[in-house]
Amino acid sequence: MATTRESGAHRHRSGAVLPMILTTVLVLLLAAAVVFLGSQEPLARALAAGRAKELPAGVTITAVPTPGDPDDVANMETNPVGAAGDLEARTGEYPVKPDSLLPVAEEWVAGRIAAFSSGVPGAGAGADDAAHLELGWSPILRAGPYLGVDLTSTVTPEPGETTHQSVYADVTSGGAWSAPGDLFTGTAAERVAALVRTAANQPEFAGRPHPSAAEARALARVAMAAAQLRPEGLVLPLDGDRALLLEAEPAADYLTEAGNSILAAAVAGTGFAGIPAPPPPPGRPAGPDRLTFPVRVDCSSASCVALTFDDGPGPHTGRLLDILAEHDAPATFFLLGEQTRKRPELVRRMAEEGHVVGNHTWGHPDLATLEPREIDRQIATAADEIATAGAPRPVLLRPPYGSLSDSARDRIAAAGDATVLWDVDTLDWKTRDTKKTVAAALTDARRGSIILMHDIHEPTVDAVADIITGLREEGYTLVGVPDLFGGTMNKGGIYRDGR
Ligand code: NI
Repeated sequence: MATTRESGAHRHRSGAVLPMILTTVLVLLLAAAVVFLGSQEPLARALAAGRAKELPAGVTITAVPTPGDPDDVANMETNPVGAAGDLEARTGEYPVKPDSLLPVAEEWVAGRIAAFSSGVPGAGAGADDAAHLELGWSPILRAGPYLGVDLTSTVTPEPGETTHQSVYADVTSGGAWSAPGDLFTGTAAERVAALVRTAANQPEFAGRPHPSAAEARALARVAMAAAQLRPEGLVLPLDGDRALLLEAEPAADYLTEAGNSILAAAVAGTGFAGIPAPPPPPGRPAGPDRLTFPVRVDCSSASCVALTFDDGPGPHTGRLLDILAEHDAPATFFLLGEQTRKRPELVRRMAEEGHVVGNHTWGHPDLATLEPREIDRQIATAADEIATAGAPRPVLLRPPYGSLSDSARDRIAAAGDATVLWDVDTLDWKTRDTKKTVAAALTDARRGSIILMHDIHEPTVDAVADIITGLREEGYTLVGVPDLFGGTMNKGGIYRDGR
């Protein structure tokens, strides 16, 4: 019996133990499944349902970045909103550089004005209420070839909120991309809406009503239109002063190829290529390195010589101009700014009578001894004075004493001028002797010579008629300096003769 009982007990025991084990296993499996399923509920589903407690890795809540200063964007140009409309109710300006930004900005302006006119009672033509549309902009990114701008539109007094539109333009290739359509993938909107609902669960938004799915979608649209691609990642401004920040890794999944290129440049901190500088104002010589002049004599066939006169205009310069006119002989004058101020009418006459007017600095200092800034000032003030007197702004410069330094050469080139020296020095300033001056000029002149004289000395002016006659008898043709070089000289070039 015992055996039987035992056996029975055994049977009994084994009959009870098996279900127990199975039950335990089942319970454990069930528990594991619950834990497993709980942890594996797709995050997107949890987020979308507004159930997710935590934002995904790489997504945080941050402050909306401080707007950039439009004045910091070099070479930017803007159009006033008033110029496109007729109402005082629309004011502000919008950026138009680089060129690719212009059509996008204009379309945005037109859209805002249309919305304003249709949406605000009485804001159409003849509006007499206080409704006002203010458009503006600020830079949000300058990295590599990309300029990002935040176009802002504020209607006051109602609703009084500013709406934002982000546009990114490539200053080198001419592309432009508007948020959200050009920057985000087709599936990004729903996912951003999910992030918005999860963000609402965070302490930063405590006390605010949790957005419904539809409200979250609307908030996502606004945030994506204002998307900022920045060094820290993708910033999506929410209402108030809070924004979602997606680091580069999660952000990449939301962005188009263009959006990712811009973000990559932003995150890498690449130096901004810059908006190209505007072309020089009309009237300046064309071409980066060349100065061109009208050619009156072909010095490749004629045997040309140039007479040059420095340090004037002086008391005898009027008589010199009479003598040159009488002989129909052109000359080149290198004028001092301070002398030009005293006798501007003579400078105007030089230009009118076909002479070349050059720059001999303001006050005749040795440029080799001056600081770069003072060299610039000596050149520019004299050039301004000569232009004010009525001659073309000079681009030929003769340094006093023929004295140059590396710095002087650099500054003359930077001014866009060519330097004109000489190969025949009459030493007229030293001898103050008419016959010696004539002899020096005629003895030393060769084809292509540049002859140095000073019209402030009376004996020199007395020598000029004989010099003209003597040179012509020897077969020379008198020309202005540029003719010696075929009418083309180089900025920063140094010229001693035309050979
Ligand atoms: Ni001089």
